[in-house]
Amino acid sequence: MTAFPDVKSLLEADRADGSIYSNPDVYEMEMDRIFTHNWIWVAHRSDIPESGDFITTFVGSHPVIVSRDRKGQVHVMLNRCRHRAATVCEQRHGKTASFVCPYHGWAYGLDGALRGVPHQDGYTGQLDKAKLPLVSLRVEEYNGLIFATFDKDIMSLDAWLGKAKPWIDLFMKQGAYWPVKTMGEHKFTFPGNWKIQLENTTDAYHFPIVHKSFLDSVDKETEDTLTFLGGEGYVEDLGHGHSVMVMIPDLVDLDENLEAPIPQRFEELAEELGKDHSPEEVRKIIRAVGGSGFNLNLFPNLACSMAFFRVLRPLSVSETEIRHIAIGMDGGPEAANQARLRLHEHFQGPMGFGTPDDAEAWDRVQRGSLAGRDIPVLLNRGIGHEAERENGNLYSDVSAETGMRAAYRQWLVAMTAEENAE
Ligand code: FES
Ligand code: FE
Repeated sequence: MTAFPDVKSLLEADRADGSIYSNPDVYEMEMDRIFTHNWIWVAHRSDIPESGDFITTFVGSHPVIVSRDRKGQVHVMLNRCRHRAATVCEQRHGKTASFVCPYHGWAYGLDGALRGVPHQDGYTGQLDKAKLPLVSLRVEEYNGLIFATFDKDIMSLDAWLGKAKPWIDLFMKQGAYWPVKTMGEHKFTFPGNWKIQLENTTDAYHFPIVHKSFLDSVDKETEDTLTFLGGEGYVEDLGHGHSVMVMIPDLVDLDENLEAPIPQRFEELAEELGKDHSPEEVRKIIRAVGGSGFNLNLFPNLACSMAFFRVLRPLSVSETEIRHIAIGMDGGPEAANQARLRLHEHFQGPMGFGTPDDAEAWDRVQRGSLAGRDIPVLLNRGIGHEAERENGNLYSDVSAETGMRAAYRQWLVAMTAEENAE
């Protein structure tokens, strides 16, 4: 038996015990139950477009390499030499024919197979290279999103994403006429628990408060678009801890409403694009540049947040790494991609008007939660008028905490899966 805590007592339908942000035993259990036995997002297809391309990243606390082999197949492998455990690759991304461990020179192929061992004669009869590949994780992909898991028995990625899949498809319409590609990232850490960030992705309630300085920095038309509290938007539970928060319903499907007027802030860009594109094409590209009108939270570590990916990685019970990955149109107009980058920097950038304010709030949640362990964290906003759609999805108004409740329900399912199976 493990010494994991009894987490059932920490969560109710509308509240959580504040210790879930700071109890190291809960954290260790999460690393095991959630980050080892779930699908964890590791890369976008465009991060490794060609054979030989690789990136290094993490699945929970485990360093991994994501590579594309000669046949085009994607592999996710532990970044751990089978000899004496050194990481075999420290580059963030690159292109290679093999991974050679820097310690004693064991060489692995793009699929993780152990190909070469220096001075192998020293291992008389004791080294079967076929039995010592880099340890591979299970890998599956949906619409360019690549996920991995250590668990060979959990449901397929397709089933796991389930009702979130149509929203992923809508999100990818930001490629306009082209596939979506990643365009670089920046990362930072905040001194708080990973779930504080997870909660934030479908938290519209904070937007006009925390992001007042951002709203003050944009033109009136943009400010009006972003004044969505009390509007027609909604938050919907998509199952398995996933949820979507629709802030701007007109921007859910970027292929619709193409006749809508071009916002003033994009007029110059429209003129530039008009040199090479028809008016219809320009409208579609401009809508894609502005991003989707929703945040999609994919439990536990990926947010498809209006116009970018936000990836969280727990570093400890009270420290979390966040990566903001800009996305654009792969093969699309340079001017459009530049415009997307500028918009990204304006809110998400390290000097942006949005993210630094969010990070301050998350830091405060962590510190505040340490005061009064018996005081719950409330997750009940919008629960009184939550309703059910025909497909069984729960939904409520845009500022409801429906997405957080969905995530915590799945959190408890994952944390207690082993007991329930017994
Ligand atoms: Fe990798 Fe020795 S630890 S070759
Ligand atoms: Fe925010």
